[in-house]
Amino acid sequence: VDNDGEKAEANALDMNHGLLFTPPVSINAGSYPDCKGSDLLVIAAGARRKPGETRLDLTARNARIVREILGELKPYIGTARLLVITNPVDVMTKVAVENSDLPVYRVLGSGTVLDSGRFCYELSRRCRVDPRSVHAYVIGEHGDSEVFLWSQVHIGGTPLESLCGDCEHSCTAGERSSLEEKVRASGYHIVEKKGYTNYGVSLAVSRIIGAILRDERSVLTVSTFMEGAYGLTGVCLSVPCIVGVRGVERIIETPLSERETENLKTSARIIASTAVSAG
Ligand SMILES: NC(=O)c1ccc[n+]([C@@H]2O[C@H](COP(=O)([O-])OP(=O)(O)OC[C@H]3O[C@@H](n4cnc5c(N)ncnc54)[C@H](O)[C@@H]3O)[C@@H](O)[C@H]2O)c1
Repeated sequence: VDNDGEKAEANALDMNHGLLFTPPVSINAGSYPDCKGSDLLVIAAGARRKPGETRLDLTARNARIVREILGELKPYIGTARLLVITNPVDVMTKVAVENSDLPVYRVLGSGTVLDSGRFCYELSRRCRVDPRSVHAYVIGEHGDSEVFLWSQVHIGGTPLESLCGDCEHSCTAGERSSLEEKVRASGYHIVEKKGYTNYGVSLAVSRIIGAILRDERSVLTVSTFMEGAYGLTGVCLSVPCIVGVRGVERIIETPLSERETENLKTSARIIASTAVSAG
């Protein structure tokens, strides 16, 4: 569903041309009534960042769009879960919580699932190991104030600190912050060079969708409405969550270092102040 109907039709046709190579699935350009009876609805419409623009700059514009879409969707939501991708995704997830009348566990944002993937990728290159053998999480805002959980990085079940002991690289604290910067800026770099990001985020979103529809109960850093976990309330942000058929099945309260706790609180404050500008 897109308010540019021709674009929706072209996308549907383009995707249908790939059907020989995937399990059978029905893809159509549709309208809101077609959403009736859905298990999962994904909101990805909205203005995107222009080069140099932060995700937060998009707030007011996209909050209007998300509210408008939810107004159209409301009669058809039924028992669906709602997954929000539109940026700034934490603020838009809260807009969706407030405008959908759904229980909060049924409304998720893609949050820092992609950022955690980027963190694992950079670590995998640095440590020369398959990214799938790296467990590392980015929490907080999907954006500049995101928090890297260095204290929880494990490779093949082994804490990073133990592995670093006998590694030729002997990474310094400075190298850690440049790796963080690389992850944080990677979206900006891609947008600067090609105007948008699509492949990484699509795979991350398809991972979340799979976890919900197949009730995988995967631990993913989706954006969720906080009701006291980590001492935070009234804001949507990413923390490790068990994601299954209900949506967010459970928030995992992982032990954080003092610095990580402080940074998470700062991130929550930044998102909350942006949410105010969303109106
Ligand atoms: N969360 C993430 O990790 C992540 C990653 C990439 C993009 N995004 C966000 O996703 C959003 C879309 O990005 P994109 O690159 O796909 O942009 P795009 O311009 O390619 O597509 C956005 C589409 O939304 C449609 N649209 C706009 N207003 C609408 C409305 N009221 N109703 C229905 N459709 C409407 C437009 O017609 C357009 O086709 C942006 O907010 C972007 O920042 C988020």
